[in-house]
Amino acid sequence: ADQPIVLGIETSCDETGIGLVRGHTLLADTIASSIDEHARFGGVVPEVASRAHLDAMSPTVESALAKAGLRLADIDAIAVTAGPGLAGALLVGVAAAKAYALGLGVPLYGVNHLAAHVAVDQLEHGPLPKPCLAMLVSGGHSSLLLVPDVAKEVISLGSTVDDAAGEAFDKVARVLGLPFPGGPHIDRAARDGSGTAIAFPRGKADDGTLDFSFSGLKTAVARYVEKHGGSLSIPDVAASFQEAVVDVLTRKALAACAQHDVHDLLIGGGVAANSRLRALAQERCDAAGVRLRVPRPGLCTDNGAMVAALGANLLEAGIAPSPLTIPADSSLPI
Ligand code: KG4
Ligand code: ZN
Repeated sequence: ADQPIVLGIETSCDETGIGLVRGHTLLADTIASSIDEHARFGGVVPEVASRAHLDAMSPTVESALAKAGLRLADIDAIAVTAGPGLAGALLVGVAAAKAYALGLGVPLYGVNHLAAHVAVDQLEHGPLPKPCLAMLVSGGHSSLLLVPDVAKEVISLGSTVDDAAGEAFDKVARVLGLPFPGGPHIDRAARDGSGTAIAFPRGKADDGTLDFSFSGLKTAVARYVEKHGGSLSIPDVAASFQEAVVDVLTRKALAACAQHDVHDLLIGGGVAANSRLRALAQERCDAAGVRLRVPRPGLCTDNGAMVAALGANLLEAGIAPSPLTIPADSSLPI
């Protein structure tokens, strides 16, 4: 029999993401982003994001369907990010998902955004090993997860106690006068600098927990920039900051693998696009005998395909659909 077609809706932040999958085959992944409208504020403005989702929702669904050569009537289930994320932004996606599910008479699955970041990798690299370890690093989260089965059980092992990794990239970029979002600009600037030029602090690196802290690092960079003003090498600051972040991230990810005797590490979220993080993670995984999976950058950042991919897992596992009364929950726990 044909595998079910799932429409995924993601609106937890500034991206209106619509994905279509058949089983774990990606059919379409369409994104409308309001990031340009937020750039001048130096961060995502919730009200602006919510309105942009409302405008973008049905055109983005239409364009995903057109790309996949499908019609609404072909959809077998709807999956939507129920949280965590910006409350008003989530509400738009959840309301749209309910309307589609009701109108089409198909099951609705409200899913966790972090679990969806894990599930997306199947679209590129096939079934997830059970268990696997996932590190999610983005503008909104920095988490280490133990994943016995993405459809049934995802366990939080640690997360940031202050700034998210991507948030640190964005704040440091701002201090260096680089545009928002800053991650890609720091990545690029760092290629001409040295990661060992400046010894920036590694927050919580050796505290024995699987939690992260990046606000001390951010402050240290700001102080350094203040002190060295005109004589500053932006590439060296960018590279040394970046090295401090990816050193701690990879160290803790591999410590988590060792502690839980897991041999497969998945990295996702926007910061997974970072070239130095990918290189150092590969190096340290090779040394530890851990297999590394990193989805291509377009699947690492927020998108609808990840939500559709997790929806397919839930259908496959025979999990009961969500009621049409399911709320959007901005702090939905994993
Ligand atoms: O997953 P994402 O698109 O959105 C959420 O925050 O959920 O992640 C965006 C974050 C931003 O903070 C951005 O600066 C960061 O990912 N980012 C990067 C790179 N590309 C995006 N950080 C470091 N290096 C990159 N190449
Ligand atoms: Zn995300």
